[in-house]
Parts: sequence; C-alpha cells; structure tokens
Amino acid sequence: MQNFIFYNPVKIYFGKGQIAALAGVLPKNSRILLTYGYGSIKKNGVYDQVMQALAGYDVSEFGGIEPNPSYETLMQAVGIVRDKKIDFILAIGGGSVIDGTKFISAAAHFKGEPWDILTKQAEFNEVVPFGCVLTLPAAGSEMNCGAVISRKSSRDKLVFGSPKIFPRFAILDPAVTFSLSPRQTANGIVDAFVHVLEQYLTYPVNAPLQDRFAEGILLTLIEEAPKVWRKGDDLDARANIMWCATMALNDLIGMGVPQDWTTHRLGHEVTACFGLDHGQSLAVLLPNVLQVRRVQKHEKLLQYAERIFGIKQGDEDVRIDAAITKTREFFASLDMKLHLRDYAIDETAIPVLLEQLQRHSLTGLGERGDIDLNESEKIYRASL
Ligand code: NZQ
Ligand code: ZN
Repeated sequence: MQNFIFYNPVKIYFGKGQIAALAGVLPKNSRILLTYGYGSIKKNGVYDQVMQALAGYDVSEFGGIEPNPSYETLMQAVGIVRDKKIDFILAIGGGSVIDGTKFISAAAHFKGEPWDILTKQAEFNEVVPFGCVLTLPAAGSEMNCGAVISRKSSRDKLVFGSPKIFPRFAILDPAVTFSLSPRQTANGIVDAFVHVLEQYLTYPVNAPLQDRFAEGILLTLIEEAPKVWRKGDDLDARANIMWCATMALNDLIGMGVPQDWTTHRLGHEVTACFGLDHGQSLAVLLPNVLQVRRVQKHEKLLQYAERIFGIKQGDEDVRIDAAITKTREFFASLDMKLHLRDYAIDETAIPVLLEQLQRHSLTGLGERGDIDLNESEKIYRASL
C-alpha cells in the first residue's frame, strides 16, 4: 500500500426526514443563500421541507444552476453573495448544484479573475462556508472537496479542488430521490460504479481492504440497481444506492492505491463538446478504456471478473473479455447507450476531442501517466 493522508470533515445526516435537522445546524443569525437547479426541488417537496426548517432565517435564493454548471451562471450567484453579504450557502441538488456552490464559495472573496481557479489552480483563501441537501446520488460531491465547472464560451469542463471547499455538512435523505427520472437514476448508478472502477481497476499494491471496500460498493450497486430502476419508492434500495454513491467518491476507497481517471477526463471532453450527460459519457467510454488498457490492468481485471461477476473459467483473455461484456450488460440494463454513434457522434469528432485533450494538457493520463494522445485516440475510436 502507498503512503497516504486521509482527511474528511463532512458531517453526514443520513435518512428519511433528516432535512428537518437543518433548523439546528445553521447559526441563527446567518444570511443564507439557497442554491438550486431548474426547479425539481419545487415539484418534489424538497424546497418546502427546507423552507420549513429554515423558518426565521434570513434566506435569499439563486435558482437556475444547470447540469454541468457553467462559470457564466455561477458568476451571477457570486454577485449576489457579494452584494447581500451572504455568510452561508445551502446547496440543494445533485453534483452540479453542489459543485457550482463550491465554485461560488471559492470565487466570492477571490481578488482576481475567478476562472483562474480552474485554469491556473489559483490559490483562494477566504471561502463562504456551505452545506448541502443532496437530491441525486451520483457525483459524490457532497462528501468530497472537488468540483467540475464548465465554461460554455470556450468549451471547457475543468476540475478544481481544495480542502477549503469541503461541505460543512451534507443531508442525505433517500426519499427525495423517488422523483428522479430513470435517466438520472441510471446516470447516477453508472457514475458511482465508474468512480469505484477508476480507483480499483489499476494494478495491485497489496491493499486488500481498499479492494474489498471497492468490491462491496460495486456488488451493492449491481444488486440494488434493479430495485430502483423504473421503480419509484423502494426506500431501502434508494438508501443503499445513495450511500454507495457517497462512499464511492469520498476518497476513502482511493487511499493508498493508484488511481486512473482516464474515463472521466475523456468523458468531460465529450460532454464539453457534444453535451452528453456525465453518466452517459462514462457508460460509453469505460468499457473501451478497459479494452484498450487490458494489458496494463491485467491482474485487477482478472480479480474484477472473479469477485464481481463470478468468472473463474477459461483462459485469462476469455475471462477479461467476459468481465468487460458483463460491465456493458450492466450499463445496458439501465438503458445506457454504449456507443458515441448512438448520440450521432461520428469519427469527425475524434480530432476535435484530441485537440481538447491537448489544450487541457491531458496527455499523460492513467495510473502510470502513459496514456498519451495516441492511446486516447484508440479509446475514442473504439467508442464510436
Ligand atoms: O435542475 P433540476 O430541476 O434540479 O433537475 C436536476 C437536473 O436536471 C435533476 N434532479 C436532481 N435531483 C432530482 C432531480 N430531478 C428529480 N428529482 C430529484 N430528486 O437531475 C438533473 C441532473 O442533475 P446534476 O446535478 O447535473 O446530476 P449529477 O449529480 O449527476 O451531477 C453531474 C455533475 O457532477 C460532476 C459532473 O461532471 C457533472 O458536472 N461531477 C462531480 C464530481 C465531484 N465533485 O467530485 C465527480 C463526478 O465525477 C462528476 O464529474
Ligand atoms: Zn463521475
């Protein structure tokens, strides 16, 4: 196992009815800004629950944070935070609203051009503290300190992170996820699944506990997915999916092990250029990353085949093929499309995507930093 430092200060309130806990969490004299998306929270009762819990507080609102939150939109919220001297932000939504809120928190007191936080990893000092009410289990943003922000005008989708942008708390009520569409439910399950694989399917470093954690999440997602897929109201299954998604990317399973974020990095470019949902991009790319990198990931692929899908028979290549096929079948069982052409993306996209990778200095990806543009091209071509 490699050396590591683990730090995660996010307080989790988990379970049905936990939104009511908000009343006791925030300092009474706070000037609070609620941030949210396009309005799902007003249809499914989450907004009402939050407002009830915040009765008596000074509350302002900023709605309209879009999926793949944009710098352009978020800077409007930064203006409100500055004008109204907001001292606490409450994000209510999925990864996009929470990530967007992380950026607002970092940008509000930033002295220079806040976009530098994304492009130059510019240091920021004072942040506006924030908490969140999670409505979509997927990104894991509720319990980590990273965020992904897009800029429409330049087709960028970039990552930043800092311990300063951990949420102060996260409220995880699985009942609020009953209203998710099948598409968003599936996107979330795939995202969590791929988060685990990006930290697990590398090469062995004798870290059996991390492996077992990862395998536990993968198996639970596979077992619970059919219970929520196109079904609204299985609270236990929704709770299990929600906790899986949080545990998949709160850094715990990735401690002391190599990581490979190739699928995510290549997927971000697909989203930035062609607008696929984050989960959609991952379902297309991940099986092809495994295929193209099967030599480098040989040992862990065999472990994945055996422990997740029970594949023990046949020679090693046959077992690895079978594991990749099973992975595709799992995604397909959630109606995820498996090819770029399913989204009307053809080979003319490849140079565009490679140029994006080059521009973003993503030319040494993978757990060993050896996925150059040639290798990325193979993955994109295999994904057509
Ligand atoms: O905008 P509203 O009306 O709220 O609708 C949202 C949105 O359209 C809807 N939704 C959310 N909760 C709902 C609901 N609809 C009905 N009932 C509910 N309870 O779902 C749609 C998608 O929401 P979004 O927040 O975009 O989805 P997700 O949680 O998948 O987040 C995706 C973003 O997270 C980033 C992605 O890149 C993408 O930008 N990621 C962030 C990570 C992180 N911070 O660590 C890691 C991830 O790999 C990921 O990259
Ligand atoms: Zn993801």
